[in-house]
Amino acid sequence: MKKILAKNLVSIIDAQKYVGKTVKIGAWIANKRSSGKIAFLQLRDGTAYFQGVVVKAEVGDDVFALAKRLEQESSVIAVGVIREDTRSKFGYELGVTDLELVGESHEYPITPKEHGTDFLMDHRHLWLRSRKQHALMQVRNEIIRATYEFFNDRGFIKIDSPILTDTSAEGTTDLFETDYFGKPAFLAQTGQLYAEAGAMAFGKVFTFGPTFRAEKSKTRRHLTEFWMIEPEMAFMHQEESLKIQEQYVAFLVEKVLENGDYALDVLKRNKELLKKYIQLPFPRITYDEAIEMLKKNDFDVTWGDDFGSPEETFIANSFEKPVFILNYPKEIKAFYMKPHPVRSDVVICADLIAPEGYGEIIGGSERAVELDYLKEQLQKYNLKAEDYEWYLDLRRFGSVPHSGFGLGLERFVTWISGKEHIREAIPFPRTLNRLFP
Ligand code: 4AD
Ligand code: MG
Repeated sequence: MKKILAKNLVSIIDAQKYVGKTVKIGAWIANKRSSGKIAFLQLRDGTAYFQGVVVKAEVGDDVFALAKRLEQESSVIAVGVIREDTRSKFGYELGVTDLELVGESHEYPITPKEHGTDFLMDHRHLWLRSRKQHALMQVRNEIIRATYEFFNDRGFIKIDSPILTDTSAEGTTDLFETDYFGKPAFLAQTGQLYAEAGAMAFGKVFTFGPTFRAEKSKTRRHLTEFWMIEPEMAFMHQEESLKIQEQYVAFLVEKVLENGDYALDVLKRNKELLKKYIQLPFPRITYDEAIEMLKKNDFDVTWGDDFGSPEETFIANSFEKPVFILNYPKEIKAFYMKPHPVRSDVVICADLIAPEGYGEIIGGSERAVELDYLKEQLQKYNLKAEDYEWYLDLRRFGSVPHSGFGLGLERFVTWISGKEHIREAIPFPRTLNRLFP
């Protein structure tokens, strides 16, 4: 068989631009059905799926024989004419005129039948090729793209915080330790402390990178490696930061609805619900009010407890929108949060809880600015003052009120996609018992 040049290939997603024209498409065979005279190839090229129709009488014996023996996930170059196809949702198909096998595939392990999650996770490198996983990654990609758009349009500079660090910011219990030329180092739990340095240098900044937490918990919301977006703003109090947080969340939801419509359909996500989440403002309650609400509804909680998943879900369900819970007890929050001016037992912070049981998607606060207070806090949290001297410098040299927050990318993707479990929201998840593939 002659060689088709893998040049000037067209993407399936662009089919509508080529109706009536002959094009070349590089694709994998996602599925196939055939009879003695006609074969329907489900073609997948990473941009979309559509059907290639191979008619024996039109392509001849050799090409037809090839079409008939192609197995799932073989790669091909298909040549053909794009036609409208009103019967399919995609709306176009390829009338194949020529076909070349590029890479064989036999006994592909993931078949259209049902597989267990462990099996699929062990084959994550292949599972990513399937329709739902593709849709999830499109949602994730749109959220990443829209994040840059949102912050760039508002004058934020992206700064990259280090991943190897010698300090902890979010508590010492879930640190990943590694050897750094004979000294201990830790994988970053957050970029925040560096983002604060960035805010003092550049005003408004955000970090966006991988963060690591040695979470020993096996929940559907925790990864050990996850991506976090952490904006930090100088000359800003918590009130203004909350406004940016809700605008950012609404913007992301809006952009996924706008640019991820097809992906949301594949995921069977309820778009009417998503549209509600664009309406601002988001409701706010204080931690004290949350405790009262929970007590009234027979939850066994006392003031000072942190909320778990049942508590967060109950609170969120009472509002049907993301809800801010403000001013948590100081004892259960990080050392750097600004103490409340009149209530010494709480801090100026907020967690944003997603509706539908998806839990905390944002944690944020105004930052403490008093040097002496921070020194006391370090001591209280058993953190070595000398490791934080650089951080304290930010309070020594032109300290200003500043606030920031962190949004967990995978929690957000899971919520917007309506998935049960966080593990499908990242290409290669890391959890308590998964480091492979
Ligand atoms: O609430 P957290 O711990 O806040 C911080 O790390 C702050 N330094 C943020 C800041 O103010 N700059 O984490 C922020 C968000 C959570 O709301 C959650 O969405 C996500 O990060 N997150 C996780 N996502 C997946 N797996 C985990 N183990 C997560 N831990 C936190
Ligand atoms: Mg938190």
